[in-house]
Amino acid sequence: MFPDLTCDDVFRLETKRLWLRWPRASDAPAIAAFAALPQVAQMTANLPHPYPPREADRFIFKARAENSGGHALHLAITRKSGPRPVLGLVSAAANGEIEVEIGYATAPEAWGKGFATEAVRMVIDTVFALTQAARITANSRSHNPASRRVLEKLGFAYVDSGLDFLPARGGLHPCDRFRLERADWRHDAEVRRLPPMAHQRLGIADVPIADPAGELHEC
Ligand SMILES: CC(C)(COP(=O)(O)OP(=O)(O)OC[C@H]1O[C@@H](n2cnc3c(N)ncnc32)[C@H](O)[C@@H]1OP(=O)(O)O)[C@@H](O)C(=O)NCCC(=O)NCCS
Repeated sequence: MFPDLTCDDVFRLETKRLWLRWPRASDAPAIAAFAALPQVAQMTANLPHPYPPREADRFIFKARAENSGGHALHLAITRKSGPRPVLGLVSAAANGEIEVEIGYATAPEAWGKGFATEAVRMVIDTVFALTQAARITANSRSHNPASRRVLEKLGFAYVDSGLDFLPARGGLHPCDRFRLERADWRHDAEVRRLPPMAHQRLGIADVPIADPAGELHEC
């Protein structure tokens, strides 16, 4: 799916504030520092919790293998200026011939500064520019408003909700599914408001969400 250009570890993307580059062995401590946090892991399908020793090394090895095989583009997010520890990860993985699924996570100390949106926007542009993908998909746990907002800002459309298998969470969990069609991809896309989340529609007031400190709140 991905071209030779992205299959070499010199490949990197630049945004206004960020570098997106292949993860490397020396990133393991920085990745483990945020991937091990419950408020990060529990919103994802694939980050185990508790985070086992050497898990970041395993992730980096697998990510590099998938990148070099052209099956995916797993990138570490760092700032362009100042200290440059990895502040997040963004992945685009082929799902068949014409579909790419994206995933992302950032460190809580970096939340709310637009970094995830900036990084994912660049990956979307790259996927549509460099591959034949017809659409990009994303899944979000149904009580993850931050992820939903990132997708909303990037022009994704809500598809439906249902129970999805989240390997690292064990079993099936309520998730919302989103899609961005190539035809709807615009650099200057108007933000389309997504429909309310399920608990908002139903008037349920007790869905807990985590803040960056990892404390659970009612929303
Ligand atoms: C989802 C995540 C990547 C967002 O990272 P980020 O760098 O803070 O994202 P951005 O700053 O680009 O955008 C976040 C948006 O969500 C909004 N948001 C955050 N928490 C929210 C909440 N509880 N309710 C509603 N909106 C919320 C922010 O205000 C911001 O929107 P705005 O720009 O309109 O103000 C980050 O929270 C994270 O890593 N979470 C854990 C892992 C995860 O959920 N990954 C996605 C799996 S699908």
